[in-house]
Amino acid sequence: MTTPIRHYLQFKDFTEQEYAYLFARAANIKAMFKQYVKYQPLVDRTLAMIFEKASTRTRVSFEAGMYQMGGSVLNITTGDSQLGRAEPIEDSARVISRMVDLVMIRTFEQAKLERFAQHSRVPVINGLTNEFHPCQILADIFTYIEHRGSIAGKVVAWVGDGNNMAASWLQAAEILGFTVHISTPSGYEISAATAGITNTGCYKVFRNPLDACRGAHLVTTDVWTSMGFESENETRRLAFADWCVDSEMMAAAQPDALFMHCLPAHRGEEVTAEVIDGPQSVVWDEAENRMHVQKALMEYLLLGRIG
Ligand code: CP
Ligand code: NVA
Repeated sequence: MTTPIRHYLQFKDFTEQEYAYLFARAANIKAMFKQYVKYQPLVDRTLAMIFEKASTRTRVSFEAGMYQMGGSVLNITTGDSQLGRAEPIEDSARVISRMVDLVMIRTFEQAKLERFAQHSRVPVINGLTNEFHPCQILADIFTYIEHRGSIAGKVVAWVGDGNNMAASWLQAAEILGFTVHISTPSGYEISAATAGITNTGCYKVFRNPLDACRGAHLVTTDVWTSMGFESENETRRLAFADWCVDSEMMAAAQPDALFMHCLPAHRGEEVTAEVIDGPQSVVWDEAENRMHVQKALMEYLLLGRIG
């Protein structure tokens, strides 16, 4: 009997124990990188990256990470492949996964990613869909742990859109045992069903974003308009005007609260320059950590547990 392929399509695809392993492993891999220790367990392995939406961090972190581990990377976009000419995603999955060892996809509907995974011979990683962004939350929680220790029992304030990031935070809260205080404008809420969670006790909804931040250990937000929703830009600009993380919100949080943003950010919209460029912000560590956690993730999917 062959072992079923493991994919990473949503945060809830892994258990609490697997996350404990991955965070410890990412810390080791990061330490090796910082000490210029060559670590190349993925020589001769190839990662295909498929981008149907723009990216800076996801592309650079996966590509640099894979090269550092000794592997190779292919970058495929909608415009320069048959994906843009309506080749069925199932056929693309069958073909691409015969030639590479691992696939990372950034696309629109989660269902499309899932269809690819169902027809893939190799592990598939979600590099962002309309519904979820698990690699980002992996990096965010690793960053929280680096700065403050375990996130279990802590409060994370989510200020803004009930989007792919918010849904992934809720999944993480359910698995890792923390609470999300969520405040979205009316019409942009997120439900347990949308986030794919069963424990509604892991989040609390607040009408006023300032109330969501009270006592929080981490305050986080994201763009008002996610990729793929650009036609709603003007409506959202009006609806989200009061959902800008500012110093008053940070002052309502714990005195040592951190600020995170997955980036790219729009200063003066979802966050003030004072907060994102201020002393509580760890956004640059957060961005760098994408690479370290994803190296641990790729190693785990291809080689299993080390040691
Ligand atoms: N945070 C993030 O995923 O950034 P990119 O869109 O630049 O990849
Ligand atoms: N919610 C944003 C995240 C970008 C990294 C988007 O989907 O565009």
